[in-house]
Formats: sequence, structure tokens, C-alpha cells
Amino acid sequence: MKIKNICCIGAGYVGGPTMAVIAENCPHIKVTVVDLNAQRIKDWNDEDLSNLPIYEPDLAGVVKIARGRNLFFSTDVEKAIHEAEMIFISVNTPTKTYGVGKGMAADLKFIELCARQIADVSKTDKIVVEKSTLPVRTAQTINTILTSKQNGVKFQVLSNPEFLAEGSAIADLYNPDRVLIGGGDSKDDQLAVQALFEIYNNWVAKDKIITTNLWSSELSKLTANAFLAQRISSINSFSALCEKTGSDIDEIAQAVGADSRIGSKFLKSSVGFGGSCFQKDILNLVYLCRQFNLPEVADYWEQVIKINDYQKNRFVKNIIYSLFNTVSGKKIAILGWAFKKDTNDTRESPAIYVTDQLLQDKAEIHIFDPKVCAKQIYSDLEDIQIQRKNIYSGGLQVLSINAIRKMVKVHNNPYNALKDSHAVCILTEWEEFKTYDWKKVYKNMLKPAFLFDGRGVLLKEAINEIGFNFYSIGK
Ligand code: UDX
Ligand code: ADP
Repeated sequence: MKIKNICCIGAGYVGGPTMAVIAENCPHIKVTVVDLNAQRIKDWNDEDLSNLPIYEPDLAGVVKIARGRNLFFSTDVEKAIHEAEMIFISVNTPTKTYGVGKGMAADLKFIELCARQIADVSKTDKIVVEKSTLPVRTAQTINTILTSKQNGVKFQVLSNPEFLAEGSAIADLYNPDRVLIGGGDSKDDQLAVQALFEIYNNWVAKDKIITTNLWSSELSKLTANAFLAQRISSINSFSALCEKTGSDIDEIAQAVGADSRIGSKFLKSSVGFGGSCFQKDILNLVYLCRQFNLPEVADYWEQVIKINDYQKNRFVKNIIYSLFNTVSGKKIAILGWAFKKDTNDTRESPAIYVTDQLLQDKAEIHIFDPKVCAKQIYSDLEDIQIQRKNIYSGGLQVLSINAIRKMVKVHNNPYNALKDSHAVCILTEWEEFKTYDWKKVYKNMLKPAFLFDGRGVLLKEAINEIGFNFYSIGK
């Protein structure tokens, strides 16, 4: 079966770049990306490519080649579903904030809505591909909904999890370590797997495309994210030990990573991992294990989240202790709001948590990020108050929008954010932070001047020499 028409539901950080790369590499396939969010679609269609809704290196170039040729962005979900032979579901699956599984389970309401809409609209057979990360056996739920109409339309459900990392999405999509396709055993299922295989094979070598059964594919994605997050929590747990023993976490990472069984990647100690995947997926994994009555396995993986929370907490406590046990009324500059460099995505960014904690201690916060706008920053800080109300409460104060606006200022220029501050925190590893004139920054700060590097961006000797009281994670 040769696919000529693809629809992708969800024009976010996964759907947008993935479909752009498929369209670029498969000019013979029409790819339509749809989303309910009209502003997002308008931004994807903006003539000025610097206004695309997500920032991702090299994305604009790919969109420029394919958009209008065989790549389209639209809000007409029904039409795109109707015309497509293959439909990717690429919608968000956040952690549930209500009801059963609140704070742990993945909220599948958007997935369910998509399945219902596909079932309602489809008049011809469709291959439905899960792209979003989902709890194992979600394909069964999707299949049950799709086939409930009993109108003679045949559906094949495949799992094809996306492994791209933000900030390197285009490079990852062009040159993936592997593509994973999970499908059922029936002849039609296998034809569907083959159809998707052929799409990727337009630019990915055959031996890099792995096919498995549906459930292995769904669970592989959770496993991969759990392993990756575990590495960060492992190195972060040692960073705490380094600070007590005079060891240096970067030297340890280098020595340990040289062992080919361990490998050198993903061993950078930090203020903690963020992003839309790791925390959500591990919470979901823990929830699944408890559901399947595997409490020991659940506890094991929950510890990865606990260490990540510990690391963020430890970082904030260290700031407060260093600043003589109070930050009340003190000006603290935050450099970096995105959850990692080269993206404007802020979901679960440690910066949100660190800032919120400093606000609880009545600090005055001045923020600069090269790619995140003020609107997003304020909205993140407001959201965490709502979450606190809904999930955590934990004795912490819920700050009003007015209080946040009064205590937090967002700057377009880093030097303005840093001027007259008592302390500066680096919370994203943006390359440009290395190029700042730190001597000038020091001169314009209040003394004693403190610098808390949560990403190991700056060199300890150079910064100490300038006169800063310098703290770098794991040193
Ligand atoms: C992750 C997975 O890498 C990707 O395969 C999956 O598809 C989605 O989730 P992403 O969240 O986009 O991708 O970015 P990633 O590079 O994994 O970073 C996640 C977080 O871990 C970031 O906050 C990053 O700063 C942090 N990190 C990463 C570290 O603290 N240390 C490291 O060594 C690596
Ligand atoms: P991800 O990082 O997984 O791509 P995003 O939140 O960036 O997540 O993107 C998911 C997109 O899916 C959002 O733009 C959201 O508006 C869209 N979406 C969610 N549900 C539906 C739906 N039923 N129909 C169309 N689009 C949807």
C-alpha cells in the first residue's frame, strides 16, 4: 500500500517538526498538520518564518522547502481526517490534574477525543498511528473507540513513538538512532506496518527501522525515557556527594563515561531535568506499576523523580543559605527560562520551580531568556499556583497574579536583568551565557555578589577570579 495523503492531529513540538521532515523527504505525499488551536496554525502559516510557534534550530529551513508544496497547516481537522489514508495522533498527554490518578496518570482525554473524531468522520479505511507517548495498551482503547461505529470502515492502529529531543529535533529526525514501529499480527496490520516502514525508508536506512508488536513499542518509549531520566538523577545524586567531598562532578562524568558500557552522553549534572516528557512519563510508569500490583518496581522508578525534586530543592536552599538565610527584598537575576537550550519550550522547566520557591521567600526576580517571551513566563508562574491549589498545596502560599506581576520583571536585555542584583542564577545552558562580559556584570552587581550556576556553564576558576561567590552544581 502506497500512502499519498497523511494527516497529523496536533501541531506541537512533536507533530510540527516530525511532519515537516516527513514532507520534505517525501514530496510525493501530501502532509496536512491540523490543530484546534487557531493561533498556533496561523503562526505555522506565517510568511515570516521567525514567527513559527516553536523555536527549533533548522526547522524554519525545512518548513520553507515543504510548506505550500506538500506540507499544509490547517484548523480543518475533519477535512484532513476525511482525506487521509494515514493519521498520526500527536496531541499532548499531560499528567492528570483531577480525579482518579491525579498527579500521576497520563490524561488521555485528548487522545480519546481524536479517536472519537476519526471514528465519526472516516468513510474510508485508515491507518491510525500513535505518535504521542502513551501508557502501554492505549492502542487497545483507541481501537475499541474506532471500531465502535461498525460502519464497515477498517482501522489499523500502529505505535510509532517519537524519540526526538527538543533543541536537536531536526537533526534527530534526519538521522535517528532508530525508528520504532509497533503493529498487530494480522495481515492488514502487517501491511500497515509496511506502509509506514516505506515512508521512513525514504530517508532512514532499513536496518535502523525496528518493528515490534504494539505493546513492546508503546512500552519501549516509556522505558527509554525512564532510563534517560534515571541517568540524570544518578549523576545529580553524585553531585550532592561531590559538594561534600571536594570531588568534581564533571571530572567524574568524564572518567565514568569513558567506560563504553556506560557511555559519555547524558551525564551532565544540572539543577534537574525538565521538559514535557521525563517527569510525566515516569509518573505514568509508577502509576501503571501500582495498577499492575508491582509496588517494588513503582518505588524504584519513583525515586528518579524524588531525586530530581531534591536537586531543585537543594539548589534553592543553597541560594537562601548563601544569601544569609533570607532573600526577602533581594534582587535575584535568573538567566534562562527554557527547560534546555535551543528551545522556547518551558514545560516543567526547573526555572519555574526555582523562581516560585524564591518568590515564596519574597525575593524580587529579574528574568532573561533569549527565546522565551514574557507572556509565557508569567503564564508558567501563574500555572504553578493553580497546580499548587489542585495538587500539592503542601503549606506553600498561593501567590496572586498581581503579586507575581509585582515581584517578577522580565527583561529583553540580560545586562539590565543583572544590574544591581544581589545574586544571579543560571538555569538553562544557553551558549550565549558563556560569552557575557562577566567582569562587567560583577562590577554592576551589589557586593558581595553571588553566582549560582545550575547548569555547569561557567568555568569555576575564571569566575572565582573575578570576585564572585561562585557555586556550581557538583563542585
Ligand atoms: C526527551 C528524550 O531525550 C527524547 O528522546 C524524548 O523523545 C522526549 O524526552 P527532551 O525532553 O526534549 O527529550 O530533552 P532532553 O535532551 O532529553 O533533556 C531533558 C532534560 O534533561 C532537560 O531539562 C535537560 O537540560 C536535562 N539534562 C539532559 C540534564 O540535566 N543532563 C543531561 O546530561 C541531559
Ligand atoms: P507535544 O510536545 O507532544 O507535541 P504540544 O502540547 O506541543 O505537545 O502539542 C500538542 C498539540 O495538540 C497542541 O497544539 C494542541 O492544541 C493539539 N491538540 C490537542 N487535542 C487536539 C484535538 N482533539 N484536535 C486537534 N488538535 C489537538
